[in-house]
Amino acid sequence: MENNNENFVRSRWYKNSVVYQIYPRSFKDGNGDGIGDIRGIIEKLDYLQDLGIDAVWLSPCYKSPNADNGYDISDYRDIMDEFGTFEDWKEMIKGLHERNIRLIMDLVVNHTSDEHYWFQESRKSVDNPYRDYYIWRKGRGKNGKRPPNNWTSRFGGPAWKYDETTNEWYMHLWAEKQPDLNWDNPKVRQEVQDIVKFWLDLGVDGFRCDVITYISKTINPDGTIPNGKFNPFACGDELFCHGPHIHEYLRELNEKVLSHYDCMTVGEAANVDIKTGLLYTEESRNELDTIFFFDHVETDMFMQVIPKGFNLVKFKKALVSWQKAMYRKGWIALYLENHDQPRSLGRFTGKFDNHRKEAAKMLAISLHMQQGTPYVYQGEEIGMTNFKFKSVNEMDDKLALNIWNIVKYIPIVRQLYVPIMNKRSRDHGRKPMQWTSGENAGFSETTPWFAVNPNYKEINVEESMSDENGIYNFYKKLISLRRRPDTAEILREGTFTEYYPKNKDLFVFNRSYKGKSLFVVCNFKNKNVALKLPDDISFNNPELVIANYNDVEPISSRTLRPYEAFVFMYND
Ligand code: NOJ
Repeated sequence: MENNNENFVRSRWYKNSVVYQIYPRSFKDGNGDGIGDIRGIIEKLDYLQDLGIDAVWLSPCYKSPNADNGYDISDYRDIMDEFGTFEDWKEMIKGLHERNIRLIMDLVVNHTSDEHYWFQESRKSVDNPYRDYYIWRKGRGKNGKRPPNNWTSRFGGPAWKYDETTNEWYMHLWAEKQPDLNWDNPKVRQEVQDIVKFWLDLGVDGFRCDVITYISKTINPDGTIPNGKFNPFACGDELFCHGPHIHEYLRELNEKVLSHYDCMTVGEAANVDIKTGLLYTEESRNELDTIFFFDHVETDMFMQVIPKGFNLVKFKKALVSWQKAMYRKGWIALYLENHDQPRSLGRFTGKFDNHRKEAAKMLAISLHMQQGTPYVYQGEEIGMTNFKFKSVNEMDDKLALNIWNIVKYIPIVRQLYVPIMNKRSRDHGRKPMQWTSGENAGFSETTPWFAVNPNYKEINVEESMSDENGIYNFYKKLISLRRRPDTAEILREGTFTEYYPKNKDLFVFNRSYKGKSLFVVCNFKNKNVALKLPDDISFNNPELVIANYNDVEPISSRTLRPYEAFVFMYND
């Protein structure tokens, strides 16, 4: 509800919350067409309530021709036909709110679909009133047949598309069907404010702001990055991110709309370093409330695509540096998975063999005990794993398919494609949710739009819920620690001290607040590892808060079992 009272103070509820991400196409099919939808989500509202999460981030459900699975919006005020109707959406938000679950919608406003009315108009003529809603330029060279500069799209190929109607080029940092909006045009910013207000007035509680760090751009000549350096590849995020007016535009959106609601924003912040992260999230700056940073999920990648071995020391360093820098200043989103990332099991744990459950629980502890708002991606709470692709024909993601269209002509690289995708593809997280061991994993009554992972017979919600020691019930317990006043307070306010940063097997840290602490130990390896307790902690009145093995010994220096993880609370 809009609040124009000048004494209104936002409650910042997200600091006490755990958010669950739903990728609607793959969550649950409610109408039997093989595609996940809003009726499917409604069927699972009790499930979400039982898990105990506080908010849902719903990936885009707006009208879209699906060039990028909904991240290409053709009408911001309507629901995609495949996902249902506006009435379904209203029933869903009502059902969520009745269960005290907030709803965070995806705000995709760096670009629209090329089928959006604004773009349809914009491309008609150079003097169309919508022309400046997008970024149009004349081409270079004779007859302007070369793109305005050599920037490349994040999906491969030039970031410009020639349009013969007006003999000009439009910018698209993603697919050709995703033209970039021109945020320098005040009318575009006004439109975005109106869209945000429209959804907030319908009761939405916040927004996950898609590629928000890209909205302000300087169109430089070939390969010149904003700081003046030359980038010969012309494809790095540094070309497009954190442009000259980004902070001004975010503050404007905040001041005009967001600050009048008890809502939250989480920005997808590509290419963000800590200094810039603080600019986005420091409360006094009134820009975004929180951000997703990428440092930890890039430690096992070369140039964001080519997988390299997982290195726990680098991974910890990436996470810990944010913990330290943001303390009492900004606020971050904590995540290991989402619809753009492979599954975390295997990726951050190495081969887990018969220790899948311990490994999944250990990862959960390592993340949820940090300061920030933890995100659980659908299926993470039952330990879903990556799919084993055998060929490009089994893939769906536009990014993966575009990469194939480039590498298929290069013999050696062509052979590396499937192994690389098996580590990296965005498709892993987009496989249908595994609800039961029955047909189609209980996702749909009919053949799903995307083949289910055959391991659904063993890994599914039904199995996990019925197992007292299963991953699902473990997540419930972990999430409930944010409701228990003493643990919740330490998690929200506590300092963060890391031990043994150079240890290649263990992630050990301590969270402290007002004389009480949480001591967190995670063995990231599928082997026994020695733990030596830090000398500077006296562990008065230790209480075991959570662990992934049942028979945990009293706190002591000892040998940890494969993936063993636990949290002790004690008085300082
Ligand atoms: C980030 C989204 O998470 C991703 O799925 C999408 O392809 C791009 N933004 C473009 O919208």
